[in-house]
Amino acid sequence: MTYQGRFKVWRGDAEGGGLVDYEVDVHEGEVVLDIVHRIQATTAPDLAVRWNCKAGKCGSCSAEINGRPRLMCMTRMSVFDPAETITVTPMRAFPVLRDLVTDVSYNYTKAREVPSFVPPPGVKAGEYRMMQEDVNRVQEFRKCIECFLCQNTCHVVRDHEENKQVFAGPRFLMRIAELDMHPLDAAEETGTDRKRGAREEHGLGYCNITKCCTEVCPEHIRITDNALIPLKERVVDRSYDPLVWLGNRIGRRSR
Ligand code: SF4
Ligand code: SF4
Ligand code: FES
Repeated sequence: MTYQGRFKVWRGDAEGGGLVDYEVDVHEGEVVLDIVHRIQATTAPDLAVRWNCKAGKCGSCSAEINGRPRLMCMTRMSVFDPAETITVTPMRAFPVLRDLVTDVSYNYTKAREVPSFVPPPGVKAGEYRMMQEDVNRVQEFRKCIECFLCQNTCHVVRDHEENKQVFAGPRFLMRIAELDMHPLDAAEETGTDRKRGAREEHGLGYCNITKCCTEVCPEHIRITDNALIPLKERVVDRSYDPLVWLGNRIGRRSR
């Protein structure tokens, strides 16, 4: 089936912009990214859009479709009523560069702030051993394609630009959780306290486990349940366990 679809696409740049109407042919089996490409090919060759794989794996084509953060290449036109006008806007939490392309460098900054994996001392590469259940647990987080839809959705930064300074966002708190749960990570032995960092430097306390990040993740990673809540529990165990507290006090006095 082919029909004339109605679209409103946000056009503009950092100075401002607005929704522009397009009427475009929609063919069976197409996704929203196909439509954006057809608009480029027919009426608006200067329409800016970021994409790479068209297979839901590169994480480039994130946008908001009818207000919902989604990958354009994984959003089938068949989920919409042909009579409906489809609105495509750039991700709201990041500054617009042009049209549907946003500046996502906030995420790169936050990525650099997370201390990387510390290999266990005395174990050669190729000799690492882990229980399968530990592998499975962190493997889920490795499915992340860095589309930053979760970062864009989280209310802590979506409407509060000022929080970007102190909040790493779900994707990078998940990364901290992944490393903290990693049985071979030796960060603590080298003086890096990931739990303290999560709380004091990466803003874990700002997360009030609303699960909005989980709802938009195209990889269906259970960000809140499997990363953020366990990380909060690990931080609380560390901070409020009476034995740990006592140990810290004694340690401090004897120094
Ligand atoms: S669960 Fe936490 S990180 Fe995820 S959207 Fe809600 S506040 Fe943000
Ligand atoms: S956790 Fe999911 S939503 Fe967030 S960046 Fe990774 S793939 Fe995208
Ligand atoms: S183009 Fe790669 S995820 Fe959409």
